[in-house]
Amino acid sequence: MRPNGIKLSRLHQAALYGAFAVLFASGLAWSILHDGVPVLGGGDGGESAIEPLLLSIHGAAAMAALLVLGSLLPQHIKWAWKGRMNRSTGGLMLTTQALLVVTGYALYYAGDDGMRALASRLHLVLGLGFPALLVWHIREGRRRAALQKAASRAGRDSPFPPPPLRVDLPQRLTTSAAPLRDRCSR
Ligand code: HEM
Ligand code: HEM
Repeated sequence: MRPNGIKLSRLHQAALYGAFAVLFASGLAWSILHDGVPVLGGGDGGESAIEPLLLSIHGAAAMAALLVLGSLLPQHIKWAWKGRMNRSTGGLMLTTQALLVVTGYALYYAGDDGMRALASRLHLVLGLGFPALLVWHIREGRRRAALQKAASRAGRDSPFPPPPLRVDLPQRLTTSAAPLRDRCSR
């Protein structure tokens, strides 16, 4: 693990990918069973016995995912943000997660049916798009981290000495040194 903590340990990665894989699979399976695949035709409207089980697995994975997301804040997100690394796709990740959490919450507590239907659709669309966003975020993050590393290595191994530091002496010193310089050059 890199000391700055932006790169995740194997255990951290396993927890993150595991929680999101279960969320994605259970959400997708529930959606197909409940509504059918739009291209192939709608669902039959009846609830299959496995649907409540899928939602309870989904709810448990959502809690695990919240823990994992929280664990990213103190190092991964904080340090990458401060170092201005991969902010664009990182910001998209944060926005998507926030919307998934808010719409997931609304699925439980939204008062009217219209709001619940809207939350359900938005939640599904964001959830189905999330793996693609995650892959993009990781590839972009690794690409930029590699570029930064290569740039700092190039600077360190450069055969040219660093440019001399320019020291601006106060005018008082440069004028008082002039007679001395004239005497030496005579
Ligand atoms: C929902 C929030 C986020 C999740 C789930 C997430 C997840 C990940 C994962 C799984 C990786 C690959 C880790 C590895 O290769 O060890 C990664 C890489 C990275 N992420 Fe995030 N991230 C999130 C937010 C952010 C934010 C907000 C930023 C920036 C401000 C960011 C910056 C980076 C960078 C720079 C890398 C490349 C690390 C490297 O290979 O050195 N991430 N992210
Ligand atoms: C990663 C991709 C995800 C997909 C594909 C997905 C998909 C779904 C689907 C299809 C439902 C059922 C919608 C309905 O009842 O109308 C659902 C429910 C729910 N989702 Fe997700 N979701 C994902 C991620 C998340 C995340 C990150 C959270 C929160 C951290 C979350 C929290 C919830 C909650 C609380 C419910 C309500 C469960 C219930 O009614 O018992 N989901 N999700």
